[in-house]
Amino acid sequence: MKKSATRRPLIAGNWKMHATRAESVALIDGIKAAAAGARDREVVVAPPYTALETVARAIADTAIGLAGQNLHWESKGAFTGEIAGEMLKDVGCTYVIVGHSERRLFFSETNETVRQKIAAALRAGLKPIVCIGETLREREGDNTLPVIERQVRDGLAEFGRDVVRGLAIAYEPVWAIGTGQTATPEQAQEVHAAIRALLRELAGDSGGEAVRILYGGSVKADNIDSLIAQPDIDGALVGGASLDAAAFARIIAFR
Ligand code: PGA
Repeated sequence: MKKSATRRPLIAGNWKMHATRAESVALIDGIKAAAAGARDREVVVAPPYTALETVARAIADTAIGLAGQNLHWESKGAFTGEIAGEMLKDVGCTYVIVGHSERRLFFSETNETVRQKIAAALRAGLKPIVCIGETLREREGDNTLPVIERQVRDGLAEFGRDVVRGLAIAYEPVWAIGTGQTATPEQAQEVHAAIRALLRELAGDSGGEAVRILYGGSVKADNIDSLIAQPDIDGALVGGASLDAAAFARIIAFR
């Protein structure tokens, strides 16, 4: 099946807990040219909180978008160490990553907190990039699709069609993140197609078709082309390779 031309590919770099302000500026300088040459696709970076303002300034004259890596579900309050969606918006973010598997694994996030955080992002005027994905154990136990279905249904419960159609979903098999073990394009496409079917159910045919489903998990310069050639892979959420300007520039320039 041919890829829908209505979905503008999205390449997002998740810097995780990396990069000082100076390193962030160097990284942005290294990808500006690639991003400028790629008008038919969208490029977003998610630096650590401490570098957001610096990066916002560095990308002011570019089409590169800014994302937070996480947010709290409340707008303000006594939540030491947390950051609200409104604060991300204030510093220049347009996107926020929600429910990354590292948040689920190390910080006890659940499908329910993911749902609350999507709501908080929308309140703040941020576009959520919602992460889902199965562990190795779940895949080996033949539970990939049931796990994905629960994450989608519970995470997106109660949101209307208009909300769902505006989301970006990142399918990131946990066993592929940071391991160098990328899902094959066929493995990824199989799950992306299942996610698309669920989204059509939740948001109607046209809504489900509109959602961008990104793949994440050891995306590199040498595998992006075959991944994004799949009909339901509409972009990538890139960790490690997004910290290498040349590699990320090549990923942005996928063909
Ligand atoms: P990776 O990370 O590209 O380093 O595997 C992807 C992610 O965690 O978003």
